[in-house]
Amino acid sequence: MIEQRKAAESAAAGSCSRPVLMFDSGIGGLTVLREARVLMPDRRFVYIVDDAAFPYGAWDEPALRAHILSLFGALLPRYRPAISVIACNTASTLVIDALREAFPGHSFVGTVPAIKPAAERTRSGLVSVLATPGTVKRQYTRDLIETWARKCHVRLVGSDKLASLAETYMRDGFVDETVVRAEIAPCFLERDGARTDIVVLACTHYPFLVNRMRKTAPWPVDWIDPAEAIARRALSLLSGSDRARPPVQPRGAEPDVAVFTTGKADFATRRLMQGFGLTVPEMAGT
Ligand code: DGL
Repeated sequence: MIEQRKAAESAAAGSCSRPVLMFDSGIGGLTVLREARVLMPDRRFVYIVDDAAFPYGAWDEPALRAHILSLFGALLPRYRPAISVIACNTASTLVIDALREAFPGHSFVGTVPAIKPAAERTRSGLVSVLATPGTVKRQYTRDLIETWARKCHVRLVGSDKLASLAETYMRDGFVDETVVRAEIAPCFLERDGARTDIVVLACTHYPFLVNRMRKTAPWPVDWIDPAEAIARRALSLLSGSDRARPPVQPRGAEPDVAVFTTGKADFATRRLMQGFGLTVPEMAGT
């Protein structure tokens, strides 16, 4: 077991071209990974799933901050990534500044609610931000609204069901549309003859449910998914250090891996990871 684990770790850490580390509490970061793959087809990825702590949306802030900082204290020396992408709004809005402070030599890309593009794009001035309860209550989110969307009416809608619903949908193919309808309903506001025209998907899990959201929405809106923008930001950060340098080994010499903090993934989860081109090394925990 220990041998297998060591082999998996060295496969993830000992590459000529250092990997990009993608981090989320669950499958949400896969929405960012798929965009990153398109932009960086030669890059190796290590996808970390903090499933031991899912869902982040329900955590108390100081405990979650300490948990993520300590996790990165182990992840960075183990996988030696070129950069890390925090593909999670709930984590980024809480801990991105603390991560940069704690690991000053390392580049982090955060994922925070796309309030600026929403404010630029809205015609009605009514924008909703659909997120976990954690992201909705963050000062970081409130500051984004204050900085970029002062002229808009921004409604923050916290859902404690959608992230888990997306997990079930992606693993088992089932989603209860009546729950989706009820969870997104508060996003839709009519005021003085104007209607909400933009909903920001401020949790990386949500784009997996966007077709069900379109179907159950009371009227059509623009759903903003920031995944491509996050992937572009990651690519631009690689430019300085090692973006331009092609990998020494041909792509495919080492697999992209998904690592679970519980150290285990069930059959459906392994299948899902395979579908995203990720190998789940036996017994690989963080
Ligand atoms: N994917 C995470 C996000 O973007 C949240 C899921 C959770 O609650 O753990 O916010």
